[in-house]
Amino acid sequence: MCGIIAVTGEGASVEILTTGLRRLEYRGYDSAGVVVQTRSDGFARYRAAGGTKSLVALEEEAGRYHGEIISGIGHTRWATHGGPTLFNAHPHFDCLEEIAIVHNGILENFRELKEDLLAVGHVFSSETDTEVIAHLIEAQLPFSRNLAAAVAIVAKRMRGAMAFVVASAGEPGVLVGFKRMAPMVIGTDGKSWFLASDIPAILDRASTFYHIDDEHIVILKPSGAVMCDLDLHEVPLESFSVDWTLESAERSGFDDFMSKEIFEQPGALRDTLAGRMTPDGSLVLDEQPADPDLWARINKVFIVACGTSYHAGMVAKYAIEHWTKIPVELDISSEFRYRDPVVDERTLVVAVSQSGETLDTLAALHEARNLGAQTLAVCNVVGSSMARLADAVLYTRAGPEVGVAATKTHTSQIGALMMLALQLAKVKGQLYPQEVQELYRQLLSLPNKMSEVLELWEEMRALALRYGGRSRFYFIGRHVGYPVALEGALKLKEISYLPAEGYPAGELKHGAIAMLDADAVVFALATRTRLYEKVMSNIEEVRARSSSIVVLGNPGDESVVNADESFVAVPQVHPLFAPIVDVIPLQMFAYHVARGLGNDVDRPRNLAKTVTVE
Ligand code: F6R
Repeated sequence: MCGIIAVTGEGASVEILTTGLRRLEYRGYDSAGVVVQTRSDGFARYRAAGGTKSLVALEEEAGRYHGEIISGIGHTRWATHGGPTLFNAHPHFDCLEEIAIVHNGILENFRELKEDLLAVGHVFSSETDTEVIAHLIEAQLPFSRNLAAAVAIVAKRMRGAMAFVVASAGEPGVLVGFKRMAPMVIGTDGKSWFLASDIPAILDRASTFYHIDDEHIVILKPSGAVMCDLDLHEVPLESFSVDWTLESAERSGFDDFMSKEIFEQPGALRDTLAGRMTPDGSLVLDEQPADPDLWARINKVFIVACGTSYHAGMVAKYAIEHWTKIPVELDISSEFRYRDPVVDERTLVVAVSQSGETLDTLAALHEARNLGAQTLAVCNVVGSSMARLADAVLYTRAGPEVGVAATKTHTSQIGALMMLALQLAKVKGQLYPQEVQELYRQLLSLPNKMSEVLELWEEMRALALRYGGRSRFYFIGRHVGYPVALEGALKLKEISYLPAEGYPAGELKHGAIAMLDADAVVFALATRTRLYEKVMSNIEEVRARSSSIVVLGNPGDESVVNADESFVAVPQVHPLFAPIVDVIPLQMFAYHVARGLGNDVDRPRNLAKTVTVE
């Protein structure tokens, strides 16, 4: 949902901005732009619009700039207000082109604010909500001490979740950022200071990183950074460390990030699991809850998440209920706070999110806290908003995930949630510490099984060739196979744009079976999990409708398919852990189909990796 980068100081350059934008491109690529500022010559703006080609054009254009810059701001856009055109591309200016802004998020009350500005003669050159902020600051600046003071006043008038950075022609080298429920971090190498929507954008530049609190502004100068509340009271900066390497944020010889991240899954899960269980079967969290007795009090778990993270949460529900006998509710984050969830201080609300910034999940976490629940964030980005908000944190240690379609973070999330299930089971006396240890040992063996599954790469390419031209795909499974079916369908939809549906296999006969014909392809999740035999019966129902069948099963079960059907063999593991290995062939199938169609798998159309709008 738009990427922001900004730099000020000795080392500031156009290249820092465009390299940062390249690493933020997964947040949107409708257009790209930069504004650079010299000490004496004011602003120079470069913008390009044209989907995934925007940044290439920008790099060429802005790369020709040879002035000695002191600071700059850059943006890659995922359009919300106004189409993906050049005149809507950020950075935006005020009337006099003396305020430049890049913005991520939505200014919800932009209409009324814009009307006020139009009434007093402001002239707009885009359809964006962002430009309204530039004009608001322009109007406020003559009555304020400086840019920071003007931004603080304007921020109080704005509604909606957002982060933005502004520069003023009158204050060369000064950048002012504002953050409200949208990601933005500060980084420095000692010579330059950076603001960025995400860490990878500045991973090769900054050695120290600082959090920015919501409802705060940051003032960056070549000499340093200061954070203030909206009454301009200074608040100390809190640093955090990042152990991601630059290599982990690069393609490293792979054709794209998605294939790299598929292949990184065994390592990502291994890192997520390593050293997490004490000998007595207690889970080692990254942030412990203030109250150590919290776990014993929990009598209900509520999982909130979106998309692929939601599917990981679904798998967790089966495991937590099986091992702990604690009821688990599951909600799509955007639904959670608009109903009346039954949550109290004995409920553990678990927010599952790769980014830790997804606005719907962040808002659900806020709501859970307001309702008095205990909260746990399971996320991948250290220091993300959810990690900072929740009472306790369990990080997946999957490294940066750049491909828009989540893969390695999904399997790592399931691994992390399995450990949570074991922890709860131990505390509730439902499993002995030795049983927890034995299950943890089985979890630790999964990365090797995943490596075996990765050997199916060519086989899945062949299946994609065989079936990729079909018009409709169904993924069916039962019990933990059901979330895998949903995830298989989601992966295929989001990168191939083909109609795909995930279905509980037993539910097919209640309606969707009417869709089956010879053009449909049905993937059946039929590894040896709890309802194996029932899935077999469901496959018979499909067979009778002459659709093509691909069965995902365990070695030894090859005979369940007929000669004209396909069988994909994945290693057998503990039934509750099966989604971690079973989902991988489906990721690979989606990948190969999308590549076969010539699609950009890392940057699928209409999508952005971190969804920071409601
Ligand atoms: C799909 C995908 C999305 C995300 C969803 C939540 O491949 O990546 O469905 O899972 O937008 O994002 P996070 O996990 O960052 O909260």
